[in-house]
Amino acid sequence: MQYVEANGARIPAIGFGTMTLKDALCVDMVSTALRSGWRHLDTAQMYGNEREVGEGLRASGVKRDDVFLTTKVWWDKLGAADFERSVDESLTKLGVPSVDLLLIHWPSPSVPLSETIPLLNKVKREGKTKHIGVANFNIALLDEASRLTKEPLVNEQIEVHPFLDQTKILGAIRRHGLTVTAYCPIARGKAPGDTTLERIGKAHGKSPGQVSLRWLVQQGIVPIPRTSKKERLAENMAVFDFALSDAEMAEIAKLKRPDGRIVSPSPQAPKWDS
Ligand SMILES: NC(=O)c1ccc[n+]([C@@H]2O[C@H](COP(=O)([O-])OP(=O)(O)OC[C@H]3O[C@@H](n4cnc5c(N)ncnc54)[C@H](OP(=O)(O)O)[C@@H]3O)[C@@H](O)[C@H]2O)c1
Repeated sequence: MQYVEANGARIPAIGFGTMTLKDALCVDMVSTALRSGWRHLDTAQMYGNEREVGEGLRASGVKRDDVFLTTKVWWDKLGAADFERSVDESLTKLGVPSVDLLLIHWPSPSVPLSETIPLLNKVKREGKTKHIGVANFNIALLDEASRLTKEPLVNEQIEVHPFLDQTKILGAIRRHGLTVTAYCPIARGKAPGDTTLERIGKAHGKSPGQVSLRWLVQQGIVPIPRTSKKERLAENMAVFDFALSDAEMAEIAKLKRPDGRIVSPSPQAPKWDS
């Protein structure tokens, strides 16, 4: 397994996304993923599957310390009255004393970061998470969070795939010295149907989905693809044994389009930088 590092965090270079995985399927997919070599799990309180993710982790037989576990606090729990309770609830459901990375899932329209960031710092100091970070923050919010935090932020999780231009926010995340996690890394299944990715993949004996994941990995971005199918676990992991040329990387970057975004900003979210 390769890793990306920032501010003391060492994050496996690919992770297993779990959004929409529920009940026995979630337990089974998480434990199968870990048994087949995945070492990084992405969940969130909002996904309603933390209990099953924790169960899958235990069922896998893989040691807790060998797995990088991320969860997130939903935007309506970012105030002083709710934040710590939300984190405690996540830990109880996951059945672990701490996670490796705790993210603010979305910014809140009403709770200022000056209230939330100290709470994020506090749970880190209390040992409930090893590392902290944010998700879906635009540049202004990332600047503000970086100014307010006393504990280092290590990661921002955003939508990244070949069909979306995230140059500006990626630049800001890097300027702040954070790692980047890419959600929707195969564009929610749209990458597999793309003819350019297919052609490039054929040249390497790889699928279009693998090309999309490799394009991210090669930029030092951590993709967290999700699948509900066991046979795709090996396919999605097999992206470390080939390399895209500079010309191929550039050609894939040209697939970006104005309507490429998959996850629309929620009504409460601030404007994206595009
Ligand atoms: N922070 C946030 O706000 C946020 C937002 C969205 C997502 N996320 C996280 O990011 C993870 C990944 O994003 P995502 O689930 O939205 O999108 P994704 O991983 O890009 O795509 C998942 C879809 O692609 C299909 N798929 C997976 N592997 C495939 C392959 N090798 N070939 C063809 N199709 C394949 C899956 O179908 P099958 O199940 O049929 O394989 C599923 O429908 C989520 O699970 C979640 O953990 C975070």
